Parts: sequence; C-alpha cells; structure tokens
Amino acid sequence: MTVKIFDTPDVQDFLKTVAGFDQEGGNERAKQIMHRLLSDLFKLIDDFDVTPEEYWSAVSMLNALGGQTQFGLLSPGLGFDHYLDMRQDAIDAEAKRVGGTPRTIEGPLYVAGAPEAEGFARMDDGKDQDGETMWLTGQVRDVDGTPIAGAKVEIWHANSKGGYSFFDPTQSEYNLRRTIITDAEGRYTARSIIPSGYGVPEGAPTDLVLKSLGRHGERPAHIHYFVSAPNHLHLTTQINLAGDPYTYDDFAFATREELVVPAERIEDAGVIAQRELDGPFSEVVFDIELAKTDVAELQTRHARPRAKEDEQDQHSQLAGTAKV
Ligand SMILES: [Fe+2]
Repeated sequence: MTVKIFDTPDVQDFLKTVAGFDQEGGNERAKQIMHRLLSDLFKLIDDFDVTPEEYWSAVSMLNALGGQTQFGLLSPGLGFDHYLDMRQDAIDAEAKRVGGTPRTIEGPLYVAGAPEAEGFARMDDGKDQDGETMWLTGQVRDVDGTPIAGAKVEIWHANSKGGYSFFDPTQSEYNLRRTIITDAEGRYTARSIIPSGYGVPEGAPTDLVLKSLGRHGERPAHIHYFVSAPNHLHLTTQINLAGDPYTYDDFAFATREELVVPAERIEDAGVIAQRELDGPFSEVVFDIELAKTDVAELQTRHARPRAKEDEQDQHSQLAGTAKV
C-alpha cells in the first residue's frame, strides 16, 4: 500500500479545523498541543498504513484502560514518568541546582494525610504474618553535609503481598504509610516490614499493552519517599532493595544506581533487644541529601491528582480508584 494523504491540503486544513484553530473560544495551548498530537497520529496512520481494525482495537484498549483507571499504571510502564524526571534533571542542571539525592518516579499509589510522628514511627499494623521486620533509618542532610532537623519524610510502601493500603481494602487505614519529622540530628527511623515487589495484574489492560511489546510488568521491592524542608528542593524518590530479581529490570524504570540499597540481616541478640524487637530483622539505611533552593514552589511537591490530596477535587478521588 502506497497511499499517502497526510501532506495534502485537505488533510492539513482538516487538522486545523479539528484542533479548533478557526474558533474564538477554548484554550490556545490546548489547541496547539492537540493539533500537534493529532498531526503526529494522523501521520502515523498514514506511515504505518494502520487498518480500521487496528485503530478500533486501540480505541477499545483505551476504554479498558480508562475503565480501570490504569493510565497511572501504564504511564510509568511506557516511560513517561521517567522521561519527565529526565527533563526535570536537565532543567535543574541548567539552573545550577546541583547535588542532592537523585529523584525518581512517584508512581500512582501515594495517599495524602498519613499519621505524622517525630523522629520514629512504627509503620505496620502488626497483622502481616509473612512480613519480615524492617528497621528503616537514615539522616537528612544538605549538600554541605549539615544535618537538617525538622525535615518532613513521607514514606509509603507495599506489604508482603505487594499491596498498598487504601488501594488494597484488606489492609488497615494508612498501613505502611507514615510521615516522620527528623530529629535534632536530622535522623528518621521507622519500624516496618520488608515490602515485596509486585506486578501489573495478569490480564489487565496495562499487562496486555506490555505483553504486546514483549515486556513484563514487574517491579522490584521498593520504598517511596517524599522529603522536604524549608529552603531545600522537594525530593520525590524511592529506593529499590538490592538482590531482588527485578532491581535492575523495573518495568516502571524507577531504578537509579544511587537508589539501590541493601537490606542487612541482623541477628545480634543485643541489637534486637536494644531495638525492642522480638527476633532477627533486616536493616535498611538510606541517607538523604537535599539540594538548596530559594524558589518557594520548588520546595513542595508538584500538583497532581493524588488520593485524599484534596477531598473536593474529583480528579484526586479518581486517582484513588486505580485498580492496581
Ligand atoms: Fe510502589
């Protein structure tokens, strides 16, 4: 098939009409972006000779993804989240905002409003029989190595089955989600359980898209962080535990070398007693370095629909219905 119509005046005029260029109302940026998006897709249909059958199966897939609120899951799988991070890294470098622990993707499973504690928090509710005790600790410092007291460290992670509270209704409210304010030495400590990695649900729309690319939808065991302090760049990051089969093969592309952290097994009875634990445990140490900034909007997380972030905002509520 050699039919090519994309460059014809008819098609080019049609694209301008579809994008509302001849209309007074609407949003100028929306028009420009939609025009570019449709142009790229129309050209793709021409270049790949996309058949009606292929086109309508794609529409059906989009409906299935939306019906299960899975765009937030497919987004990291198709690299968009990591690409936005790559761009933000480049923007920071150009603005000479250097140093600090690397950022990586937030993912779709944060829930706002977790309980807050000073210095130490227990994150698990004690009901996960398969969860090995984790002692998670670290120090928050600035790029000169000075500890930051009063930094806000928000941590969230999955249970031993790879499920997140709120999205997994079998878990108690805010299980494995806490906000810890660092102590006078900039330290935070959490008692929790070692999370399990998890995969995109088998047969779900996201899984079907990834399988069509010959890819898997697995993530290694990981722990999410938001870290913030006045006059410092807000950090969104996560650590991937070393030794997981997917540590360096994460479908969501969140792994960065500086963010791979070992879990060290501790069996010393003295240390166990000192921590007031009932048996051997695994210790994970993650120190965090925050870059400096005077720009107020860079000191807080960027706006995005998040579960419970805003009770009035319908998009936030939808963000909390993701079937993952
Ligand atoms: Fe996660």
